[in-house]
Parts: sequence; structure tokens; C-alpha cells
Amino acid sequence: MIKFILNNKNIETSAPPGMTLLDFVRYHQHLTGTKVGCNEGDCGACTMLIGELKNNELQYSSLTSCLTPLGNVHGKHVVTIEGLNMEGLNPIQQAMYDESATQCGFCTPGFVVSLAGFCLSNKTATAQNAVAHIDGNICRCTGYKSIERAAGKVAQLMQTRHQEEPATFVAEQKILPHWFATIKQKLYALQTELNGQLHTTPATEWVGGGTDVYVQKHDVMQSADIRFLLHDERLKGITQKDNRCIIGASATVTELSESPVLQHYFPRLAEHIKLVSSTPIRNIATVGGNLINASPIGDLTIFLLALDATLVFSNGEQTHELPLRQLYKGYKTLDKQPEEHLESISFELPGVNTYFNFEKVSKRTNLDIASVNTAICLTMQGDIIQHVRISAGGVAPVPKLLDKTNAFLKGKLVTDPTIAEAIAIAQTEISPISDARGTDEYKRLLLSQLIKAHFITVAENAIRYLL
Ligand SMILES: Cc1cc2nc3c(=O)[nH]c(=O)nc-3n(C[C@H](O)[C@H](O)[C@H](O)COP(=O)(O)OP(=O)(O)OC[C@H]3O[C@@H](n4cnc5c(N)ncnc54)[C@H](O)[C@@H]3O)c2cc1C
Ligand code: FES
Ligand code: FES
Repeated sequence: MIKFILNNKNIETSAPPGMTLLDFVRYHQHLTGTKVGCNEGDCGACTMLIGELKNNELQYSSLTSCLTPLGNVHGKHVVTIEGLNMEGLNPIQQAMYDESATQCGFCTPGFVVSLAGFCLSNKTATAQNAVAHIDGNICRCTGYKSIERAAGKVAQLMQTRHQEEPATFVAEQKILPHWFATIKQKLYALQTELNGQLHTTPATEWVGGGTDVYVQKHDVMQSADIRFLLHDERLKGITQKDNRCIIGASATVTELSESPVLQHYFPRLAEHIKLVSSTPIRNIATVGGNLINASPIGDLTIFLLALDATLVFSNGEQTHELPLRQLYKGYKTLDKQPEEHLESISFELPGVNTYFNFEKVSKRTNLDIASVNTAICLTMQGDIIQHVRISAGGVAPVPKLLDKTNAFLKGKLVTDPTIAEAIAIAQTEISPISDARGTDEYKRLLLSQLIKAHFITVAENAIRYLL
């Protein structure tokens, strides 16, 4: 039995836990305000909010309900567009109306829900932050400027909030319905009733956020027996132990971007993470899912390859370690037993003379997977490259460490001829194919340019004293 709160109503259902939240809400609850667009996480028409208790705080994030299995909202609060309705228009809807930010209206519920997510977040009340919250919503009619103006007005609504919990503030200020102020207590009651139990069944499939698997096999998943990993506390957390960072396999991309440890050691983390999908996808996409789906262009895989990460797998009884660089045996083929799941990922945090960079080119800047992506982890000793790992995606059947290029660069001075030779060597160890994301020649050119970009960006600090 799955239990959660839907808007202001307690739900208890025996619907299949693999059914999408979107289908459940529309076809079982007959709440049809949430729209079905792409069914692949791309358009944001199906955006809902999920509220949960974390460290005794009620925190909300947006998600794409078309890719979210019911099992992932067990014990949570789900908010749909209907849950934002008040007498007349609520102030968010009013801002959209005042700024002519809706035309055909198909995208509008998704935008309003995403903006409500902004109001329920702890983000500073700036127009920029409000606009960032709608980066997963697509509108084919308005040209966005009117929606951005509406987002600016919504940010103004939040400017008088200080320390109050967002849900209490929006209820008191009549930005959202009054009952938002009661949800925290209701979630505590639900938590006590569930006693920390996840929804479990004998499983043949594992699902993190579902943002890969529900795109690949949407229909199969509806009736699959699933073990839900997204909220499994044993697989959560991002911690530092000595000079290593340990990431639980179910940490989400948003959790990575908010981690104080990672922010400290990777000062450009926010810029890098912004290139990964969109806010509602990042809120549910896990690191484990990114590594295990074995996509040759997984952004986190490329990050972690350059960092020479080590993986811990478990079969439920025993664990074993495997370097990430040994995981991929061929296209979507892993050195892993079917009964094993990924528990955690660890890597050495960069020291003083170590520099990290990530580059990605895709057809669109946001909400798109890479044509080519690459990361570098470069350690300098004086003006010599002591050690370097460049990884690259989209240029081979597997995410790739450029071993020959890396070996060539070791012990060299960073000069133009050295980088040119390194790029020539990199070209001998890749085998891109032409596909929807570009021709093989284009991808070769991209990798060459991105390796130069690494050295311009990363070595900026390192080279400054070399020149
Ligand atoms: C619109 C959209 C945009 C996207 N943009 C990007 C992008 O910019 N960059 C990018 O890299 N990816 C992108 N993706 C792909 C996807 O979001 C990521 O790969 C994500 O990290 C997958 O994580 P998940 O938890 O959702 O995986 P899931 O779909 O839950 O799982 C993927 C696979 O991993 C397995 N799995 C998950 N966790 C474990 C575990 N702990 N142990 C063993 N097996 C496990 C599952 O069984 C499944 O086979 C995008 C996807 C969508 C829909
Ligand atoms: S329907 Fe398009 S993102 Fe879900
Ligand atoms: S108003 Fe038509 S898609 Fe946005």
C-alpha cells in the first residue's frame, strides 16, 4: 500500500507502485490540470512538487511526474496545480495573467507549479532565482519574456520573508492556500505511521529517480516489481572522510550542487551542474542512475572518471570495490553482477595544486544531453604536469578516460605545441559515430576544442606563473 498526501488529502492506494505519478493523478484521482506533453521529462507540462521532511524542515522540490513512479512519493506530500487553487486567482496565477504570460495555456500549469516551488524554497527572492526555477518548462507560444516578467513579480511576493519556513509564510501571506501551514504536522504523523519503511516488493528492477529508465521503458515499468532507491537513507549523503569524498548512490544532482563539501573543493560546481538537465530532473536524478545507465555521455560519469572514482557494490550480503574506469566493458555493458547494486562512490578531493574543469556542448544549453562532454583533473608540480586525467563522452561506445593522451601529458610543460600534440593523440583513441547529436567529424572537432578550453580554463591559475 502506498501512502502519501496529495494536495490536502491523504491517499492510500494499492495502484501499482511502478505507475507514474502523472497517470495516477490524472486517471485515478481525476485531477486533469496537470498536462501530459512529451512524457519524457523534456517539456515540464507535468511538473508537480514533492514536499518532504529533511532535518526537521519541510522542503519542497519540483519533479517531472511523467517519469516519477508512485513508489517514489510514498510518505511524501505531492502538490499539483489543483492544490494551488484559492478563491479567484492566486498571486502567482495573477502575475502570469497580468504579464500576458499565457497564450494557448497548455504549458501554464507547469510554469505556475514551478513558480510555486520557488515560493516554497529557501532561495533568495530574486527574479534570477525565480527564472532559474522554470528552466525545465517549455512554452511554444509566448517567447518567454512575459513569463520571465511574471517570475520577477513572483520573486517580489517573497521579498518580505525572513526566517519563516516558506510553507508557513506562503500560507500566512495568502500566496498559496492556508492548509500549507498544516502539512508539516501531517507529514510527521505519516512518518510515524510508516515508521521509516520504504515501499518494498520483491524486485526485478531498481529505480533511482526514474529519469533514465522511465524514458527507456516507460510501459514495462508500470507493472514491474521495483525496489525504490531514491529515498533509501542508506544510499544518501555526501560526506568527507580525511581527503576523500563519499557520495551515496542515491544522492541527487541537486544534492551534489548544494553540498558544502563539493562547493568548497569545486568552486565552479554551480556552473558545471547548471549544464546538467534542468531543475526538476536534477531534483530526482541520482548519481547511481547516471553511472549505471552507462550512457556514453552521462555528465556525472565524465566528472567522476576524471576524478578516478571508486565504486562500492553490494549484493545484499557482501560488498566489493571497483574503480569506475573498469566498469564499462562495451556499449551499455557493465562489469557488474545483475544482483549487485551500487552503494556509494568515493574519490580523492583535489589538493592545492590540482585543478578540475568540466566542459559540455549540446544542441541546447539547458535541458539537453551532450554532443560531447569532457572533464579534466590536472595536478601541477611547479610548472610541470605531475598528473592528469582527461575523460570524454560522446566520442566512443563508453564514457572514456583518454589514457594515451593522459600518459603523454605527464611530466610535460604546458605549451601550445604540447597541447596540440595531446589533441592529436586524443584523436587516435576516440571513435565517435554520426547520430542526432552531430557527425563524427563534428564530435572530433568538439573534443579538440574542449581540450583547449580545459587548458585555457584550468591551467589559467596553474599557467599564470608559468608565463
Ligand atoms: C529531460 C532529461 C534531460 C536529461 N539531461 C541529462 C544531462 O544533461 N546529463 C546527463 O548526464 N543525464 C541527463 N539525463 C539522463 C538522466 O537524468 C541521468 O542519467 C540521471 O542521473 C539518471 O538517474 P536516475 O536516478 O533518474 O536513474 P534511473 O532511471 O532511476 O536508473 C537508471 C538505471 O540505473 C539503475 N540504477 C539506479 N540506481 C542504481 C543503484 N544504486 N544500483 C544499481 N543500479 C541502479 C536502474 O536500475 C536503471 O537501470 C536526462 C534525462 C532526461 C529525462
Ligand atoms: S510530460 Fe513533458 S516533462 Fe513530463
Ligand atoms: S502558452 Fe502555449 S505553450 Fe505556453
